[in-house]
Amino acid sequence: MTDLSLTIRPETADDALAIERLHERTFGPGRVAKTAYRIREGVEHQPELSFTARIGTLLVGSVRLTPIRIGATKALLLGPLTIEPPFRDRGIGKALIDRALAEAKAKGHHLVVLVGDEPYYSKSGFVRIPKGRATMPGPVDPARLLVCELVQGAFDDVSGPIRPDWRRED
Ligand SMILES: CC(C)(COP(=O)(O)OP(=O)(O)OC[C@H]1O[C@@H](n2cnc3c(N)ncnc32)[C@H](O)[C@@H]1OP(=O)(O)O)[C@@H](O)C(=O)NCCC(=O)NCCS
Repeated sequence: MTDLSLTIRPETADDALAIERLHERTFGPGRVAKTAYRIREGVEHQPELSFTARIGTLLVGSVRLTPIRIGATKALLLGPLTIEPPFRDRGIGKALIDRALAEAKAKGHHLVVLVGDEPYYSKSGFVRIPKGRATMPGPVDPARLLVCELVQGAFDDVSGPIRPDWRRED
């Protein structure tokens, strides 16, 4: 019998094409003009902190985390998060976010930021970044710039420009 249960696994190199097609179908060519994309084209996402969702062998969702800095503080950028339309509203998006956050925390990360809808992401612990405290390298609606503390108080003294982590020595 075919196993049609949901599995969430770290992304592998073999997933790249299916994920790219999912992004293309979901966001279209305009995705490359988004401000968050500017950060993501500056640095590779981290496959060990990025996850796929499968029903049986079919890839139905993906979330990626990318290393960034906010000012001088290391953090992660969450996104894109994408679920195939027929599989939405079944908790798969939340399961992917929760897995990515748990894995990031287990690996010693303190902060995750994203550009997205607060009503959705607040269910996973994201709150709005106070206006002006962190800036993106392009236009972003401040109401959509969100942060999640993986360690309580981790965002307390953090501010500055959000940019790709170029993995320079500290
Ligand atoms: C947004 C998205 C990832 C949600 O994935 P999902 O697996 O359908 O979400 P979940 O099943 O975890 O959660 C569904 C719930 O969130 C709500 N929800 C979905 N998108 C929402 C949004 N943008 N704002 C507020 N609530 C939202 C649903 O109404 C549903 O509510 P309910 O539980 O009260 O019924 C998915 O719809 C998607 O891929 N959208 C297109 C790409 C996108 O916008 N990605 C996010 C920006 S990177």
